[in-house]
Amino acid sequence: MKIVTVVGARPQFIKAAALSRVLRREHREILVHTGQHYDPNMSDIFFEDLGIPHPDHNLGISGGSHAQMTGRMLIAIEGILLQEKPDAVLVYGDTNSTMAAALAAVKLHIPILHVEAAARLGTMANPEEVNRIVTDHVSSVLFACVPSAMEFARKEGLTRNLFLVGDPMYDAFLYYKGKKTLGEIRLKTLDGNLIDVPERFNYLTCHREENTGTEQALAAILDAMESMDVPTIYPVHPRNRAAAIDMQRKGGLGKVLFVDPVGYLESNTLVCQSERIVTDSGGVQREAFFAGKPCVTVFDHVVWPETMVGYCNQLARPDAADILGKFSRKPKFDATYKPFGDGHACEKICELLRTVEL
Ligand code: UD1
Ligand code: UDP
Repeated sequence: MKIVTVVGARPQFIKAAALSRVLRREHREILVHTGQHYDPNMSDIFFEDLGIPHPDHNLGISGGSHAQMTGRMLIAIEGILLQEKPDAVLVYGDTNSTMAAALAAVKLHIPILHVEAAARLGTMANPEEVNRIVTDHVSSVLFACVPSAMEFARKEGLTRNLFLVGDPMYDAFLYYKGKKTLGEIRLKTLDGNLIDVPERFNYLTCHREENTGTEQALAAILDAMESMDVPTIYPVHPRNRAAAIDMQRKGGLGKVLFVDPVGYLESNTLVCQSERIVTDSGGVQREAFFAGKPCVTVFDHVVWPETMVGYCNQLARPDAADILGKFSRKPKFDATYKPFGDGHACEKICELLRTVEL
């Protein structure tokens, strides 16, 4: 098949790194980068470090309101699809790039393959939920990562070409694990200085619209990190950069190392070597679970129910006492419980593509 894959955001580059390697053994893949993430440390570094093929098209579209970004992408992707005439369009997850590609493809009657399909939070107030629901309902094939997604899909009547394959993020996690040692990692502070990774540390990421709308949520999260016994490495997502600089200037956060976003090889190692993880990232909370690290997810909704067992991953409000309280419970990790598959989700996707009727 000729498949046009559309990516645009950091987590999609990681998923594409895992799947493209396998997909290209049997199919002709045309890679489209919408440009949604564009800073070198949010985009290029992933292509270089993970050996992702160079995009065939880069649309250079980012920023603006949801409608502006999605609308511009929709128009530009339609142009690419008319030019490339693929047999299918492949999309990942739940970003504006995902939904724009899905809408462009369905209107041209091009079958859509949705990887990481049918995850649900249960609220349309979350922008990613809207992207997921729209994309799932116009897709021809749904590749679900986890059993709970299969259930959500069935409840919405999405049963045709619905497959449980496991999580490509888990494939990537295993494939790239240990490729960088802590000693090889140099962190860049927001004012440009290079520093080493401390011997013991917690890992923090925060970028959700829900936690960055006001400074309050981030301030409470940083307060919690400051009260912990070891320093925190906090790679700052560009969405929060201005707020993070502001809070750092105000002082009182000596235990938080505010640094530029790191590459995936670094992030994978930092997850695996950290003591605790605080995040609102869908990817990082799963990686914490893969690595057996206690995680608190600062969010109102469960995104990955399979991680929420035995206090392994717990929700908290953006409130220092709540976050710290959650860590007082000792998590129980069960090495035999593998809800994200066996690390071969990408092979399963390719196997299914041999026989599935689009
Ligand atoms: C997007 C996705 C989210 C995903 C996240 C991964 C949507 C609706 N959201 O959120 O699902 O979890 O990516 O990180 O698609 N910016 C830069 N440089 C960059 C990238 C972004 O400065 O390289 C700025 C943008 O200009 C924008 C802000 O950061 O002002 C937010 O970026 P955007 O892509 O809209 O949303 P994310 O928060 O990254
Ligand atoms: N990540 C990274 N560098 C960072 C922070 C995170 O490579 O500075 C990785 C992280 O390990 C995970 C992925 O980015 O694999 C998650 O992306 P993000 O949190 O941006 O989006 P989400 O998963 O919430 O959609």
